[in-house]
Amino acid sequence: MTEESTTPKYHIKSFGCQMNAYDAQRMGELLVAQGYEATEQPENADLVLLNTCHIREKAAEKVYSDIGRLREMKLEREADGKQMMIGIAGCVAQAEGKEIFKRAPVVDLVVGPQSYHRLDALLAKAKTGRRAIDTEFPVEEKFAHLPHTRANPNRAPSAFLTVQEGCDKFCTFCVVPYTRGAEVSRAPEAILAEAQKLIDHGVQELTLLGQNVNAYHGVDATGTTWSLARLLYALAELPQVSRLRYMTSHPRDMAQDLIHAHRDLPQLMPYLHLPVQSGSDRILKAMNRGHTAQHYVELMQHMRDIRPDIVFSSDFIVGFPGETDEDFEDTLRVIDTVKFHAPSYSFKYSPRPGTPAAEHKTQVPEAVMQARLLHLQQILAAQQTYGLAQHIGTTQAVLFEKIGREAGQIIGRTPHAYSIHVVATPALIGTIQHVRVVDQKRNSLGGVVLL
Ligand code: SAH
Ligand code: SF4
Ligand code: F3S
Repeated sequence: MTEESTTPKYHIKSFGCQMNAYDAQRMGELLVAQGYEATEQPENADLVLLNTCHIREKAAEKVYSDIGRLREMKLEREADGKQMMIGIAGCVAQAEGKEIFKRAPVVDLVVGPQSYHRLDALLAKAKTGRRAIDTEFPVEEKFAHLPHTRANPNRAPSAFLTVQEGCDKFCTFCVVPYTRGAEVSRAPEAILAEAQKLIDHGVQELTLLGQNVNAYHGVDATGTTWSLARLLYALAELPQVSRLRYMTSHPRDMAQDLIHAHRDLPQLMPYLHLPVQSGSDRILKAMNRGHTAQHYVELMQHMRDIRPDIVFSSDFIVGFPGETDEDFEDTLRVIDTVKFHAPSYSFKYSPRPGTPAAEHKTQVPEAVMQARLLHLQQILAAQQTYGLAQHIGTTQAVLFEKIGREAGQIIGRTPHAYSIHVVATPALIGTIQHVRVVDQKRNSLGGVVLL
């Protein structure tokens, strides 16, 4: 047998937020340390992990249709005398736990988002034919137990770095506090060390991640608590870091020092994703968001005063239980006042088991939700088109990240996080170039490199 055929292969498919994407990379590194190698084709994999999302019903249900497809592949492999272990990781694993084995007996292991550093023990158990599950929230931090390879095989110039996890806010519609647990911040030293490793591998842009990233409050070895702003100032000191971003933030945690960081730090990009969910005070209260529409509007105005070229995006939920036409009009008013020029996310409310809003008696009919969603998305699309159009004819500093879909194209991002494509040599990937913006599509820009 060739060496290649004896090396076990893994395939990870990740759903949901960037935190899950980060976790998928860490799990991959863990498996590489266990002697596995990655494969793009699930049918060739000895281990397939679905890193799942529970945020809306559709996301959670998708897992079971995927398991159905994997089951077929597993049977085919078994007919060939090969094995395929199926593992469910992420937020569905956390929310449903061993129920998954009942609904999908083909699954071999279930691992929650806070316990995947113990994947090796679970794999060992599953290999003996026993079902393995770990959905604990261990006291010891998972980050301390991950291998510190942070390899960057594609030499991607942009990387995610998780600095905070979990959420204590308990918005009444949301599963995250249940699936990810209480808010935990990593120590600043650990973050700076991970940043340095990424830089050593050619990374120039860091996006700090957390479900509530601006609630970051890491404690250093001297016992001092750092805010997100302090962390950003420290990261900006690292000479090779040319770009810093963070997501996702909560309006309640936009502290003064963070706002000032947008004024002081040229590395902090002029872009802010700040979910508002609704523009109605009544609904914001029922959602337990802890702020008013006016607070949000004033905050965004303040950000613009400090950093006039800043571009905003947000998350919206339409059809939260009890939402009236007037409440919806209030949301449209906030959109009209603030103006969101970068791509936003908008969703129909989806009742999630165990959350308070799901118990509400006045659920909004599907057709009403659908109409409101379309209306809101049309307005957001028009604002985005306007935002993109503002860039036509300007010169932007673009960090090139990857090869484009069309021949000869490479793709990068402007400081405002717009995706931009140019026809140029792939040798420019990983560099920042001046690009003249010449055209726009629905979600992106086109340009020419000024050499
Ligand atoms: N921590 C972030 C958001 C995390 S979840 C915040 O506080 O805003 C990502 C987005 O999914 C949310 O902003 C919300 O718009 C959406 N979402 C969460 N739960 C939902 C539900 N039950 N139905 C519809 N959308 C939901
Ligand atoms: Fe969910 Fe609210 Fe926490 Fe965001 S702040 S993760 S929406 S509970
Ligand atoms: Fe989904 Fe869990 Fe992220 S529910 S959005 S994967 S925190």
